[in-house]
Amino acid sequence: MRLSNKESLALTNRYLELIAGKPLADREVHDLIQETVESYERYVNRGFLTYRKSVTESGQFAALEWSGSGSVLQDALGRRYIDCLGGYGIFSAGVNHPRIVKAVTDQLQRMALNSQELLEPWRAGLAKVLAGVTPGDLSCSFFINNGTDAIEGAIKLARLHTKRRVFLSTLGGFHGKSLGSLSLMGKATFREPFASGLQDVRFVPFGDAAALEAEFAKADAIGNPFAGFVVEPVQGEAGAVVPPAGYLRKARDLCTRYGTLLIADEVQTGLGRTGAMWGVDHSDVVPDILCLGKSLGGGVMPLSAFVSTPAIWECLVPNPVIHSTTFGGNPLACAAGIAAISVTLEEDLPAQAARKGEMLLRELSRLQRRYPDVLTEARGKGLLIGLEFPSDSIGYRFAAGLFKRGVLVAGTYSKARTVRIEPALGIADELLNEVLGRIEDTLREIAATLRVKEPTEVETA
Ligand SMILES: Cc1ncc(COP(=O)(O)O)c(C=O)c1O
Repeated sequence: MRLSNKESLALTNRYLELIAGKPLADREVHDLIQETVESYERYVNRGFLTYRKSVTESGQFAALEWSGSGSVLQDALGRRYIDCLGGYGIFSAGVNHPRIVKAVTDQLQRMALNSQELLEPWRAGLAKVLAGVTPGDLSCSFFINNGTDAIEGAIKLARLHTKRRVFLSTLGGFHGKSLGSLSLMGKATFREPFASGLQDVRFVPFGDAAALEAEFAKADAIGNPFAGFVVEPVQGEAGAVVPPAGYLRKARDLCTRYGTLLIADEVQTGLGRTGAMWGVDHSDVVPDILCLGKSLGGGVMPLSAFVSTPAIWECLVPNPVIHSTTFGGNPLACAAGIAAISVTLEEDLPAQAARKGEMLLRELSRLQRRYPDVLTEARGKGLLIGLEFPSDSIGYRFAAGLFKRGVLVAGTYSKARTVRIEPALGIADELLNEVLGRIEDTLREIAATLRVKEPTEVETA
């Protein structure tokens, strides 16, 4: 219902006071929680309130995110949660990393957005920094705001450069939800209601080098070779699925042989998440286009990019606005990106992810052997870890059980029975040990309700 300008103004001013940090009495906090729930119901999407099973099933669906620092989030009632979700991969440097916040506020005080007409120094600076930390001769960058924008740009660049139309993607692959990226999605639930997007997409099983080779050969034989093969070095939303050794190398060779661009979707795996700076580094592979997002903005600003080689970039030069966007490469986001890379290097986040990921996976695998009827698999690379449960309902109960114990995790987009563990790469060892204890508690609780006999220490040794 349309309000009078005076009423709308009063509403904006009340929210601005709250944003400014006006202290709230207990009753006012509860009122705000209630108001937020009602606004989600009426003005956002009421489905979202009950969809988030970890919070819904633990009876806490009204938890209101309020503040955070490092690996701890706090809700409006002051309850604290150890963050093992990482905002689906944005908080690799932790929540509100002070150096990243400082870079953004420094720039904010100078100027927030850009005129679009003058040269933007931090866009150039970030592109130069990225050229120095990405593999091979990847050195030209285009900045946008979401992972899906990076994939859209890569699709357009690959079409422009190769003058081909068809793309190859993987079963279970997740590349974003705008129409082009969605067409590459290897799961029908999200893709099919919006068909048709890109018509020319083929899918192959992820990690199967022989199937990949056959698909390339088939496309070549019918005279319709691929413009690009879009692949995650480790599938994130499919549940931290790691391909067999040699798979990406094989993909690189096939792409080179058939003149197809290898498009590495590192929106989730990039900047240290898997225990190396880039997921492709584990295979010593240089893609033709590298897509970045999520943690690139340091958990402070939305920022994504697609990065390619000067030779491929040449097709964008004659008309540099053939692909453009108003907010892409804005100074706030680029300041955040520069600071995020600086923190990644200074704190050696990839090495931290490798060490902590190994420890976590070892301990989770031990728990898996101890509670095999509750937890069927623990897998992943670095701090991109997936826990597989026998059913969606057990997956929900596990996430809810952890939420009740003050640990934030969530299922993946592809499967609710696969729960992700994706903490900040610099998370303290003590917090990880604390999390492991709470995970064991939760597994024990579920096992008891399933009337699963708990194995003895001897059996699990
Ligand atoms: C590998 C990958 N690519 C692309 C995307 C889409 O990113 P965004 O949600 O920022 O559009 C995601 C999001 O989870 C992702 O994991």
